[in-house]
Formats: sequence, structure tokens, C-alpha cells
Amino acid sequence: MSLRVIPATGELLEQILDQTFPVWGEGLAREAYGKYNRAQASTPWGATNLRRFALVDDDGRILASAKQYDLEAVLDNERVKAMGLGAVFTPEAHRGHGYGAELLRLMMARAAGEGFGLALLFSEIAPSYYEHLGFRLVPTNQVSLSVRPGKRPGPLAISMRSGDRDDIRAIVEMNASARAGYRFALVRDADHVGFAIAKKRLLAASGAPGHRRVEFFVVEEGGRAAAYVVLLEVGAFAMVTECGDRDPSGARVGAMLQTILARDAASVSHLRAWLPPGFVPPQVEVVAHEIPPVSMMMRPLGRQVWPAPPLEPRDILWWHADAF
Ligand SMILES: CC(C)(COP(=O)(O)OP(=O)(O)OC[C@H]1O[C@@H](n2cnc3c(N)ncnc32)[C@H](O)[C@@H]1OP(=O)(O)O)[C@@H](O)C(=O)NCCC(=O)NCCS
Repeated sequence: MSLRVIPATGELLEQILDQTFPVWGEGLAREAYGKYNRAQASTPWGATNLRRFALVDDDGRILASAKQYDLEAVLDNERVKAMGLGAVFTPEAHRGHGYGAELLRLMMARAAGEGFGLALLFSEIAPSYYEHLGFRLVPTNQVSLSVRPGKRPGPLAISMRSGDRDDIRAIVEMNASARAGYRFALVRDADHVGFAIAKKRLLAASGAPGHRRVEFFVVEEGGRAAAYVVLLEVGAFAMVTECGDRDPSGARVGAMLQTILARDAASVSHLRAWLPPGFVPPQVEVVAHEIPPVSMMMRPLGRQVWPAPPLEPRDILWWHADAF
């Protein structure tokens, strides 16, 4: 039997969506799950940077499938093409034959040949599965936050407005300044920033009305966004999926969070973030370090050079919005 890796589109993709829906359906209806996936792939960034592959046998049967995100990262001051692996799946009937591992090996070999220097993933299963494939854990910094109430509570505490497409250029610049001082971070262009926000919005829009809420706020200075916050709210829980501030202290982000929480006093009671170590706005306190439900893992491709010394939490800037 010969095995091949092929792009999963059309009918093949529909089969994969049928198979993966019970695992990654996120509480959506099957049709909405399909739309949510196709809509991500139709965004300007998704159309060029997000692909799904399948390992198939001679009869065209799907033995395993996975997504590949083409990313750019900075590691120890060098730009590196990184492949993000996601939604690794083997249909139940074919499990335990090494197909999942084989698909990943073939995808990584091809990516290495195309100049990718790094593979990244967020494991939802025991990391040992990926350790056998050469991956190692990378620390993430999920924290639970408390925000000191502002002196002037209420919606007028700081003048903020909803963010939009025109703010994305300023966000790219804020992200670039924020990377200084960290050894490892994602480098996002305007399309990628747009994708990260659109993906959250698409998920919220695909589910039951009001179940998930995405909010994107900016504060302006001199006619441009000078700080921003993106929040994903599910019931009483809110995740700051990303934020940024031209003021390195993060004071404007802190003031925005004060305003949002004063407005939402009755609803949001748990605020968390994957906070870059060292970035804690003055109004904010880290109350607990948490274990996120996924483990970030990496593996160098090609020359197989690991970062030295090994990455520590303080070296990494990786927002929840950067996970895939
Ligand atoms: C995880 C998964 C992709 C493995 O696929 P597979 O083709 O059976 O994997 P392989 O045959 O390459 O490897 C089998 C090994 O994986 C291990 N494995 C399977 N599920 C595992 C899990 N949840 N945690 C850790 N190891 C797991 C098996 O114990 C087996 O180990 P062994 O070789 O030491 O006996 C498959 O079980 C699956 O699709 N699960 C549901 C989706 C999922 O959770 N995907 C991972 C998202 S990060």
C-alpha cells in the first residue's frame, strides 16, 4: 500500500469535517462548523496561509488529516518561517497504525524542504505523543487577572471606541515594538492581525446567539490607535486574547479593562490572558498562574538547532490570539 499526502479540498474536506466535528465542533451545528472552517480559509490571510492536508491510501481513503498554518516568528533575533500544525486527526477505524505520526513526518519533511525552520503546535492530548516526533514543551503564561476599579467608574472612564480595519496598521506597529525584549514571538502582518480577530468573530457568529462575545476596542491618540484590547467573553469568563499599548507601561490597556469591567460588573467575573511576562498594566494584578488546556510545543526543522539556552517563560511573547 502506498501512502500520499494531498491537499484536502472539496469532497475530501467535507469528509474530514464530518469526522472532526465531534471533536472540534465547539458546540456548533454541523453546517455552521463547515461554514466556520470555510470562512477562515476564505479570509485574505487564510487563503494563503491556512491549508489542510490528508494522508490517503491507494483507494483514496483518508487515514489521517491535519491543518497547516504558514507563520512567521522571530527567534533569537532571527526571522524564521514556522509551520503551525493543528487538528491532527486519525479516523477511529485507522488509529494505532502510525498514520497520524506518518502524516506529521511527511508534512514536516516537505515544510523543511520549503525553508520552514520551525514546527509549532498546541497539544490537547498527552504531550508524549508529540515528544515521540521530536517536539518539546514551550512554556505559556496563562494568568488570572484582577483589575483595580477606576476612580471614575462607568463607560466614560476612558474614551474608547470599537476597533476596525483602519486600526490594524497601528496594531502591527504596536506588536512590533512589543516584541523587543522577548526571544520568541510571532510576527504578524496586517492580514494576520485581521485573521486573528475575524476567526474569533466568526466563531461567535456561528454559535448560539449571545453565547460567545468578541469585543475589540481602541483608544486613540493623535488620530491613531494608541492602545487596543481584544476580548473573548463566554459567560462569566473573559480572555484578553491580545492587547497592546504604545505606552510600554500598558496604562491605557489597564484603563480600558477598568472601563469594560465597570460596564460588565454583573457579567464578567473571571478575566484571564496569556500575558507576556513583564507586561502588567499598573491597574492590573496577576492573581494566579493557570495551566492552560493546551500545551505549546515546538520542534526545529531542517538543521534541527534548538534555541540555546532553552526558552523560559520570560523569553516568550505569545498571546492567546496567536494560538491555532
Ligand atoms: C491522537 C491521534 C491523532 C493519534 O492518531 P494515530 O494515527 O492513532 O496515532 P499513531 O498510530 O501515529 O500513534 C499511536 C500512538 O498514539 C498514542 N495516542 C493516541 N491517543 C493519544 C492521546 N490522547 N494521548 C497520548 N498518546 C495518544 C497511542 O497510545 C499510540 O501510542 P503507542 O504507539 O506507544 O502505542 C488520534 O488518536 C486522534 O485522531 N484522536 C482524536 C483527535 C485528537 O485528539 N487529536 C490530537 C489533537 S492535539
